[in-house]
Amino acid sequence: MGCKLLKIGQISDIHIGEDENLVQGIDVRANFLKALRSKSIEDMDLLVLSGDLANEDGEPGAYRFVFEQVKDLKVPVLVIPGNHDRLDTMAQFFDLQGKIHGEKCYFKYEIAGQTLFFLDSACGTVSKDQLDWLKAEAAKVQGEIFLFMHHPPCLCGHRFMDSRYSLKNKEEVQAVFAEIQNLTHIFCGHYHSHFELDMGRQKVHVAPSTQMQIDSYAPNFILKSSAPEWMAIEIGENFVETAVYLR
Ligand SMILES: [Fe+2]
Repeated sequence: MGCKLLKIGQISDIHIGEDENLVQGIDVRANFLKALRSKSIEDMDLLVLSGDLANEDGEPGAYRFVFEQVKDLKVPVLVIPGNHDRLDTMAQFFDLQGKIHGEKCYFKYEIAGQTLFFLDSACGTVSKDQLDWLKAEAAKVQGEIFLFMHHPPCLCGHRFMDSRYSLKNKEEVQAVFAEIQNLTHIFCGHYHSHFELDMGRQKVHVAPSTQMQIDSYAPNFILKSSAPEWMAIEIGENFVETAVYLR
């Protein structure tokens, strides 16, 4: 199992508004489309939109726009909520059937002999139910497993995001993850910056945003760039590689 190369496009924190008005002076719709229509995304097996599809508070127009853009793609598109999403509104546009359990969206997805897990950290924590489920399901999988969630499960060395918006129950989450022997790579977003960090046995990959990048050295919000950035992931027999693209 797992010998076929799996290519995943990860587009994160697209922050689409209700209508076509610019978001903080940025054409976030155009930014998203630059990523979606880029050569780097073209030959993917799977596309993951890892949260904050909507700009502020689950604007329906945001989901309508994103759904219209991805509905005819030839590859599966998986979405997870971020802290600016509303699951009930998201579910009106994306097929989340069987993925919502007690108001949280978490699920397992198998593709090309690999097992991917998706957790819901939209409220700023990962619930105990999800952690219990992950532990039980991971134990059933032989070989490595890969996990997507909106919030990084650890501090990343980003002064602004770490101090204000990091995952609230990261100690609890890290303790559970540390027990899961076959969990090797965790893919997140939320920080509007690219990071690759070691967290014990696990590698944490933090995807940048298509909306904007936030300066990681400043203690307050400082815009670093309004150019869209996104990530491509390759999972092979004994390797995981990521690449960041920008326009
Ligand atoms: Fe976020």
